[in-house]
Amino acid sequence: MKNSNFLRALNLQPNSIPPVWFMRQAGRYLPEYQEIRKNYRNFLDMCKKPKTCAEIALQPIDRFGLDASILFSDILTIPDAFNLGLAFHEGEGPKFSSPISSPQDINNLISFDVNALGYVFKAVEETKNALPQDMPLIGFCGSPWTLAAYSIEGGGSKDFNKTKIFMMNHPAELQEFLEILSNACYEYLRQQVLSGVNALQIFDSWADLLSGNDLERFSLQYTRTLTQLLKADPVTANIPIILFEKSPKKKIIDLVFKDLACVSLHWQEDIEAVSKDLKNKFAIQGNLDPKILLESDELIWDETEKICTIMKEFPGFIFNLGHGITPDIKPEKIKVMIDAIRQ
Ligand code: CP3
Repeated sequence: MKNSNFLRALNLQPNSIPPVWFMRQAGRYLPEYQEIRKNYRNFLDMCKKPKTCAEIALQPIDRFGLDASILFSDILTIPDAFNLGLAFHEGEGPKFSSPISSPQDINNLISFDVNALGYVFKAVEETKNALPQDMPLIGFCGSPWTLAAYSIEGGGSKDFNKTKIFMMNHPAELQEFLEILSNACYEYLRQQVLSGVNALQIFDSWADLLSGNDLERFSLQYTRTLTQLLKADPVTANIPIILFEKSPKKKIIDLVFKDLACVSLHWQEDIEAVSKDLKNKFAIQGNLDPKILLESDELIWDETEKICTIMKEFPGFIFNLGHGITPDIKPEKIKVMIDAIRQ
């Protein structure tokens, strides 16, 4: 992996051209993905086919020549391994048939068996085998908080009211659940590393549901527990960790901690201000607003160039979007952005 500019950036080494990859780089906006996807009614069934996951993970690499690949799977595989009855039906988001609706449901949870996720580790192996030798593979999980929010809510939601009510009525039991999830995430990421991933990203996609104090109490505390477990384990101690917090109600400088290599910035963050605070301490990934990709080529070019100019002297900059690519984005627009980065 000596020739990976992505891993160099995570180690705060400068690159003349920033490495680039995108959250949700594999997915519905690609016709070649749709071609495979149409053979499955439930997205999760597709995630359980390791060779198919490898094929899908390689699609954006083959099409765009990106600098890093990401495991094709989902953050909700962990709640699924707790038998919460996950399904993704066509045109709908995730749905749990047995969500966590009372403290009793937490007491009754089965113990986590990492081997139930063997299909994910096989997908890592298949993907590593299929990738070019110097292409790093990113493994990932959801933050304990984000996984708890989906598990309690029973799926996606605009306001996550059930989760907020559970948090108010049963904070201690919620914290027990977060503890269980932190340990599950640790075992899961450890096994991804043993299977071949080269970096890890933790997605705290529902950080924005929490006030500043609650963000610490219900999310960051458990993400730190998770990273401490990883750093204390010789298998994972040297694997760089990237943290994505979606629109957190805390300044980035007030939420970073030493076990992180890199912060993935949501599009609402001011990358210039954050870069001054983090310089020579953490790498930064981000943070173009994915909605720009629905605009003209000229605008895409200009907005991409703006970020690259701001980050020119920042050692450890990785170009990415401020959130995932959405299905309405045309692949040609991704190409415009990449050309602007590499001009
Ligand atoms: O290239 C990649 O990033 C692919 C791997 C990947 C997927 N999901 C595939 C996927 C990754 C890293 C994820 C992470 C994920 N999953 C997050 C964190 C990132 C973020 O967006 O904040 C979250 C919150 C989820 C949960 C999830 N998975 C939802 C809410 C949905 C349905 C709505 C949606 O956004 O698509 C999914 C389904 C999903 N995960 C799809 C893909 C390609 C679409 C499935 C389909 O084809 O129907």
